[in-house]
Amino acid sequence: MGRKKIAIIGAGNVGATTAHWLVSKELGDVVLIDVEEGMPGGKALDLLEASPVEGFDCMVTGSNDYREIDGADVVVVTAGIARKPGMSRDDLVKTNAKIVENVTREAVKYAPDAIFIIVSNPLDVMCNVALEASGLPKNRVFGQSGVLDSARFRTFIAMELGVSVEDVSAFVLGGHGDDMVPLVRFSYAGNIPIEMLMSREQIDRIVERTRKGGAEIVNLLKKGSAYFAPAASTAKMVEAVLKDKKRIMPTAVYLEGEYGISGLYFGVPAIIGENGVEKVIEIPLTSDEQIALEKSSRAVEKTLKVLKSSV
Ligand code: LMR
Repeated sequence: MGRKKIAIIGAGNVGATTAHWLVSKELGDVVLIDVEEGMPGGKALDLLEASPVEGFDCMVTGSNDYREIDGADVVVVTAGIARKPGMSRDDLVKTNAKIVENVTREAVKYAPDAIFIIVSNPLDVMCNVALEASGLPKNRVFGQSGVLDSARFRTFIAMELGVSVEDVSAFVLGGHGDDMVPLVRFSYAGNIPIEMLMSREQIDRIVERTRKGGAEIVNLLKKGSAYFAPAASTAKMVEAVLKDKKRIMPTAVYLEGEYGISGLYFGVPAIIGENGVEKVIEIPLTSDEQIALEKSSRAVEKTLKVLKSSV
């Protein structure tokens, strides 16, 4: 059995940091692709030269040429521009749709059997673009956002309670935007529902901070968006696929009636394994949760419409 091959399209901060997490876990050989000349090769060589120090046996290469990704098992799409302070992710839709469409078309030529994990923003709509451009079945094209949003939610819960992040489980559903739905009812610290450990005011503050988690980083960085946590979250999804782990992850999945939503990518719990999205898990929601989810889905739908009306 040879090593797995992972292609990362877009060698900016998110792409390069994803490569870093992937090789540190020895998940496979990594190919970084970017339009910028020299840059993907430079980052790849730099990372490869860390291998004797860290002791990972993974080849890391970088190129402008998609032929290098030939036969990849997983393709991660991070290509596109990042938002600046004051912008919403949706402001990127037209620019990034063209980029994601082009790179997906190219990538699928050389990696037709791969699972595609989309990371570019606005995430949910970029997944639609990639699905159409790839011509692949929906289980093989999905988006990473819920793992990141849930990681932020868990971080803030752990900080508030002064407990280990390891003991906090929580998840966020819905679109990757300001209307995302952190599910308080399913959030625990040390197996204890957080509603028993925190006041309503504390919970509301954490929920709001989670919803604005991406913007908080954008406002601090000023010249770009988050990359450590997005990359770690993406690497976890790659791992779930390559190791066929059957993990339950909040995933942007193409929905056809689940949760009453159709024709959209949207964050829901799904089983992730070697076939990509292997099952969508439908959980009964309270009417408040359902209303929040519908609001979030309308926001995704609106952005999708903006894109469709512009082509
Ligand atoms: C994030 O949540 O960090 C990313 O979606 C980037 C952004 O623009 O917020």
